Amino acid sequence: MKEQLEQILKAGLGEIEGAPDLRALDDVRVKFLGKTGALTQILRGMKDVAPEERREVGSLANSVREQIETAISQKLADLENAKLLADMEKEKVDITEPSKGVKRGALHPLSRFNNKFMEICVEMGFTVIQGPEVETDYYNFEALNVPKNHPARDMQDSFYITDNILMRTQTSNMQIRAMEKLKPPFKVVCPGRVYRNDSDSSHSPIFNQFEALVVDENVGLKDLMMMIKEILRRLYGENIKSRVRPSYFPFTEPSIEIDATCQMCHGKGCNLCKGTGFSEFFAAGVVNPKVLEMSGIDSKKYSGFAFGPGIDRSVMVTNKIPNIKYLFRNDLRFLKQMK
Ligand code: DAH
Repeated sequence: MKEQLEQILKAGLGEIEGAPDLRALDDVRVKFLGKTGALTQILRGMKDVAPEERREVGSLANSVREQIETAISQKLADLENAKLLADMEKEKVDITEPSKGVKRGALHPLSRFNNKFMEICVEMGFTVIQGPEVETDYYNFEALNVPKNHPARDMQDSFYITDNILMRTQTSNMQIRAMEKLKPPFKVVCPGRVYRNDSDSSHSPIFNQFEALVVDENVGLKDLMMMIKEILRRLYGENIKSRVRPSYFPFTEPSIEIDATCQMCHGKGCNLCKGTGFSEFFAAGVVNPKVLEMSGIDSKKYSGFAFGPGIDRSVMVTNKIPNIKYLFRNDLRFLKQMK
């Protein structure tokens, strides 16, 4: 039996030494130390050993088991180490390799225009405000002097959510919210998304407007026109020309529209401006005293003016974007060209 044990030890150590990987090593462990393993068999046979030899054989068997166990755990550590080194070698990063170039993002053309416009307004003393896109009929229409059944509602085909709540069709809702909240004199500007049921290559159901409102003593049309001229100059430079046309909005009296040099042809005349050299830029006017009063502002003491450019058309023209939908699709192939 002693000989058998020595053979087992020799064979075990040999096989452990030769195990090429963790799996093979585990097989060796089972083969020698497992329930039906060689050593276990021997230990089971101890009862047949003569009593005087039992002690010696027993301690030899234990020592064989210990040696095999030690050899296994050593081999296990060696194999794990080797695997780690091999993995590290495989995953090695060559930090001297030239980079593939970092892909940098850029601001969306609408954001760029938005930022520029806001910057100009802030320089002129405006406070930037924001307000809800889901709006009540009162702020979007009624308080702007557009009562129910007023024909001006047809100009803005609206998305109603309930009888009384709709997606705002204009940022002019913010004129009312500002007048209710602020004490004159004040100057506010509100950039924002608006919604109308309208869709073709130059109309999108979602588009963007600004709303600027000034309320003070003795302000009127001349201040409005001066301010718009100055904004155009800061946006497009000294050579920009503008012209004024009369218009109609229920919440302003008088109402005007301001055209500026067409940015597609720079005034030469093209398809976009129908040969006039001008394209529409601002809708504006002197705030209707009725609107001031409805929002709690004394129209005998204060007057106001407002203007609201749509910005999508300008962004399309300056960036030569053929279809307004590109502005809202977030298609990377398009956006990459807009840097
Ligand atoms: N909110 C109007 C529209 O979307 C445009 C407008 C007209 C804005 C006159 C103004 C204004 O601030 O004074 O058609």
